[in-house]
Amino acid sequence: MKILITGGCGFVGANLALFLQSKGFYINTLDNLSRKGSKYNLSLLKKKRIKNYNFDIANYNQFKKLPKYDFIIDCCAEPAVEISRKEINKVINTNLIGTLNVLKKVKKDNSKIIFLSSSRVYPIKDLNKISKKKIINSKIKITKMFCEKDNIQGPKTIYGLTKLTSEMLIEEFSYAFGIKYIINRCGVISGPLQFGKQDQGFLSLWIWRHLNKKKIKYIGYGGFGNQIRDVLHIYDLCSLIFIQIKKINKIKNKLFTVGGSKKSYTSLKQLTNICEKITKNKLKSQKITKTSIYDIPYFITDNKLVTKTFGWKPKRDIFEVVYDTYLWLKNNKTKINKFF
Ligand SMILES: NC(=O)c1ccc[n+]([C@@H]2O[C@H](COP(=O)([O-])OP(=O)(O)OC[C@H]3O[C@@H](n4cnc5c(N)ncnc54)[C@H](O)[C@@H]3O)[C@@H](O)[C@H]2O)c1
Repeated sequence: MKILITGGCGFVGANLALFLQSKGFYINTLDNLSRKGSKYNLSLLKKKRIKNYNFDIANYNQFKKLPKYDFIIDCCAEPAVEISRKEINKVINTNLIGTLNVLKKVKKDNSKIIFLSSSRVYPIKDLNKISKKKIINSKIKITKMFCEKDNIQGPKTIYGLTKLTSEMLIEEFSYAFGIKYIINRCGVISGPLQFGKQDQGFLSLWIWRHLNKKKIKYIGYGGFGNQIRDVLHIYDLCSLIFIQIKKINKIKNKLFTVGGSKKSYTSLKQLTNICEKITKNKLKSQKITKTSIYDIPYFITDNKLVTKTFGWKPKRDIFEVVYDTYLWLKNNKTKINKFF
């Protein structure tokens, strides 16, 4: 089976490319190498003879010339919410027009699509209902888990909007042209090959800073570091997508919320404790009290439907996500230094 992975030199795409090739699939990637670190990931793909097509996903004239694939896994995005406020055209072109082009190609070739969506489709006001007071004062309490049926109406970031409209476009193409799809609406994902930055990929950035004894900043919600996220290990996501590819003729045209859930979650403060234990480094921290209008205090995924449907659930907890990412960063420190 032939699979094209868009954004295939990014964190999720490159992990999927290597994993699915190891399962016997023929893999190509499409990536314009705009993300820092994608060139490093490409060097790993090249070693495995995985070919990358280097062009902008918004360019359908180039896209339509690619060979025919049985599957396209759409992992291409500008995934940082803050960038989506500053560079609106770029984000809409990459994230939404990009998905439109994937769909046109899938329709033309009669192939199938798996789409990586995001928990940021939920409105900020709903995510903020978890009271700010609690976030500032108390320990982690799982008060709510978000699922497929939760409300999606209301401002959510331009990034979140592009992911939601991509989801809707996929459903429309499926209805109109009979395209088979699966959408995974994911919480935070982390692990090896992630080049984290302040506004995206916080876990790998946190570990990198500990490894290199650099300062950390707690930004927003009073600067206490009590924001909470679930974190899915990339290897758990790869296993799920492998199952989905095998089962798509039986289980199709469905959307699933997918995340670390109760198995794997952390606050920034707790993440610091884990990083200190693993690296033996204790860093100076800075408090930035002001909260961005795009920040959210809390997200935990409800995996009930995806577990019931595929018999899948995350195997790895937050300590394993941090430890595996740490090992990768430590073992490749000199080679990847310039990408952080
Ligand atoms: N990482 C997470 O925590 C997370 C959580 C939920 C959903 N997602 C989704 O998963 C997917 C993959 O995310 P990621 O973390 O791997 O991001 P990433 O930034 O690491 O990978 C995206 C890749 O797309 C490429 N790209 C960007 N713009 C392009 C363009 N115009 N043309 C061609 N290539 C382009 C980049 O070079 C990069 O390699 C995205 O759709 C993202 O929205 C990620």
